Amino acid sequence: MLRFLGVGTVPLVFKTYPDGEFYVRLDGKVGNEEVAIVQTTSPPQDARLMQLMLIVDAAKRHGAKKITAVVPYLAYARQDRVFLEGEAVSIEAVAHMLKAVGVDNLITVNVHQQKVLEKFPFPAKTVSAITLLAEYLKSKGLEKAFALAPDDGALWLVEEAKTVLGGECGYIEKHRDLHTGQISMEKKRLDVKGKVVIIFDDVISTGGTIALAAKYASECGASKIYAACVHPLLIGDAEKKILDAGVEEIVGTDTVPSHVSKSLHCTF
Ligand code: R5P
Repeated sequence: MLRFLGVGTVPLVFKTYPDGEFYVRLDGKVGNEEVAIVQTTSPPQDARLMQLMLIVDAAKRHGAKKITAVVPYLAYARQDRVFLEGEAVSIEAVAHMLKAVGVDNLITVNVHQQKVLEKFPFPAKTVSAITLLAEYLKSKGLEKAFALAPDDGALWLVEEAKTVLGGECGYIEKHRDLHTGQISMEKKRLDVKGKVVIIFDDVISTGGTIALAAKYASECGASKIYAACVHPLLIGDAEKKILDAGVEEIVGTDTVPSHVSKSLHCTF
């Protein structure tokens, strides 16, 4: 990124106190400049969010004119509305905290629901890594694969992937029980018999969604199944669950560092 922007950097000094609190110091000057602070908020989310707040505070306090937070994986984005009476809208709380500490702009990658950014108290933008994932998969010989969304919320992801892969796309209807978190999928016929299928999603967390979609694609006759996601959280036995469901390989980006993450670069 720095190579493309041709800008200077300021190193940071991090410490964690014995009681668990964080300490941050800028080891250089920011002056009266526009500053971009790059910090993903993948697990441990709360620690990374707190570090981001401290970096923003330090930069603002030491003269930064304008601060853009570049947050490749934006934690808490899936709780983007009140689903059950009495809940918090977590992503809005996060946005207000970032505003309070001094963030002027935010850029993220494949936020769960783009429209949530309209409620942010500063300009916020999401960019998509789906084209890069699809280009990577195409370069691995998966041209013309069927791009499958595990729910209708991911339909636009597979439409984007389809423009690169050049095959077909479709989606499954997913239902999540708001009390138990249990998911189920509506058994509508998918035209994937004998086809290579790539399931695309924004996030893989416990792996339940992709595993269920993979089982379903397999029942419908898919010849091979791959999984691609932007944010590979891969909590607990998620990877095993997905591979056990018949997926050949999982591919993710490095918004969340993991061993399935590929460093995918745009050519500007
Ligand atoms: C939800 O709608 C998201 O797009 C993902 O499908 C979900 O977060 C994946 O979670 P899990 O891997 O736990 O099923």
